[in-house]
Amino acid sequence: MDIEELLKWADDRVLASTGKHLESLQKAILEGIWQHQNYEEIAATNHRTYDHVKREAWKLWKVLSETLGEDVKKSNVISVLETQILSNNFYPTFEDRMQIVGTLNGNINICGENKIASAAADSPESQGRSPTIDLQEAPELIDYCEDDRSSELAQLGEWVSEGTRLISIYGLSGIGKSAIAVNLVTEISDKFDCVIWRSLSHSPTLPNLKVELKQFFSTSQATLLPRAIDYFRAYRCLVVLDDLEKIFKSGQLAGQYLPGYEDYGKFFKQIATSSSSCLILLGWEKPRDIATLEGEKRSARSLQLKGLAETAVEIFRERGLKDEESWSELISLYRGHPCWLKIVAATILELFNGSVARFLAEKDSNIFIGDLEPLLEAHLERLSDLELKASNWLAGLGQAVDVARSPSSADLSKSQLWQAIQSLGRRGLVEKVQLGDRAMFQLNPVFQQYIQSK
Ligand SMILES: Nc1ncnc2c1ncn2[C@@H]1O[C@H](COP(=O)(O)OP(=O)(O)O)[C@@H](O)[C@H]1O
Ligand SMILES: [Mg+2]
Repeated sequence: MDIEELLKWADDRVLASTGKHLESLQKAILEGIWQHQNYEEIAATNHRTYDHVKREAWKLWKVLSETLGEDVKKSNVISVLETQILSNNFYPTFEDRMQIVGTLNGNINICGENKIASAAADSPESQGRSPTIDLQEAPELIDYCEDDRSSELAQLGEWVSEGTRLISIYGLSGIGKSAIAVNLVTEISDKFDCVIWRSLSHSPTLPNLKVELKQFFSTSQATLLPRAIDYFRAYRCLVVLDDLEKIFKSGQLAGQYLPGYEDYGKFFKQIATSSSSCLILLGWEKPRDIATLEGEKRSARSLQLKGLAETAVEIFRERGLKDEESWSELISLYRGHPCWLKIVAATILELFNGSVARFLAEKDSNIFIGDLEPLLEAHLERLSDLELKASNWLAGLGQAVDVARSPSSADLSKSQLWQAIQSLGRRGLVEKVQLGDRAMFQLNPVFQQYIQSK
């Protein structure tokens, strides 16, 4: 699609609905936004003042919103227009669309944006069709405690039913992101036309990932569409991208794309703002740009996965640990982190014949690190200088701090501390504790112990 086509289509629609053509400056604004210009640049290119362009843009969003029946603004105008053009022109009419896919598939498979609004009636489930599923890259679930994640699962399921297009699940490695996503996919896959799980562990570039997705979509859906994003728009696709941290920078604040991978951000935004599909991202860090999309209805949501609660005892029961009365102390020391608990359970079995009480009584530090070291180190290696300074300072204090308090260390200003704490929070390394109406922040105690011991 080119800008001429987009302008003509928008102008025709506005003419049909208001009896008036778009103003030439309004067309110039659309063209500028298409070229990723901001209002200042559009004003300069068209020899107008910034205020004039802003006023005209405001009128344009209003007329387009009324004409297209969607909330149109600068941030989404191009994707809204592209989606509407695609669903109105590419497939001539709704009936034709049903026919195109129906004939090729041998059964009726409705495609198009309308699906979310009428998801219940149109879902593959209600039509007795089963989705095409590729979960080859999803991990197998071993000794998983169902009950423990039921509220998070219910929350995620609700977001999917509401039509949320981008869901980010983030948290420490081994906390259970892949496990909960496998469960979620199992529960919801029948609401989708196709389901695919891909790991980004080999850091694929976006063009390569798109080729792979398009290949899968085109074999699972009979209609051939030009681009991967077209499938996200025309069908209900459920896509899980695991190990997202592999496309983020190390040594910088959390959630920033590696050089050459910034286009992922645009792709995620395209999906979040205009698609009928659901993309689930799993990773160690919350992508920085997701926060800005979260305000938009149905666009994006995120869940920080914390440790398991009491039912983590199943992990100990299964391994045959002893002294059940001490288990809850052990779970709380390791913050209910399932992978850490499994590692510590192995140590207790090897060194103390499974006696949790003796392990707790004999350990010489608050928290025994042992085999957790490589897991913890992998997180610390990714920190920026600022975050390292802040975590050393927090580890030294050994208690929760109010961010209003100035750091004693001279090479960390207050605003740097705020930035670092926010970023450490996005990595799950710093926890927020509520003290009355004040928020206090502390290092995850296991990391605190590890940093102190280094
Ligand atoms: N609810 C749970 N109950 C028991 N074990 C769990 C649970 N969730 C995750 N685990 C276990 O924790 C380990 C790490 O889970 P995983 O999903 O791979 O973590 P992540 O994807 O966050 O790195 C796995 O061995 C997994 O079986
Ligand atoms: Mg995982």
